[in-house]
Amino acid sequence: MDFRMQMIVVAVIGWWLVPVIPGHAAGEANLSRGKQVYEKYCLACHGPQGRGDGATQFDPPVADLTSSEVLMKPDSRLLRSIHDGRTNTVMDAWKTTLSDEAIRDVLAYILTFPR
Ligand code: HEC
Repeated sequence: MDFRMQMIVVAVIGWWLVPVIPGHAAGEANLSRGKQVYEKYCLACHGPQGRGDGATQFDPPVADLTSSEVLMKPDSRLLRSIHDGRTNTVMDAWKTTLSDEAIRDVLAYILTFPR
């Protein structure tokens, strides 16, 4: 193979690999899927707008997802709370029910609630 041919091969393979590079391929969070997940699994406790006014009350109380107490926490902390749950509260670990992507989507949806 001559040099020009090699450059063409490199260019073609490079172009083909771009979407595979992590981060590049990881698309935006899917808000409509986040909404579906929220309505199915979270709304009953957290309420339609995340204010912790769902159908059932608990002790310790359901977090208000629009409060500064929650929103102060970095996304990585909130993702972990959803993934692993909160000890000694009714907030379950969702890691067996939801994929990492679904957890990311539902958090993105939560962050769209009016504050
Ligand atoms: C059975 C009721 C219940 C359900 C269902 C529920 N939560 Fe919670 N959630 C709670 C309670 C109670 C807390 C407050 C925990 C605490 O005091 O730390 C909480 C707290 C949180 C927090 C704040 C965590 C933090 O670190 O401050 C987030 C975010 C959250 N829930 C998201 C979700 C999502 C997403 C779902 C659905 C996949 C969900 N919750 C389903 C009861 C529930």
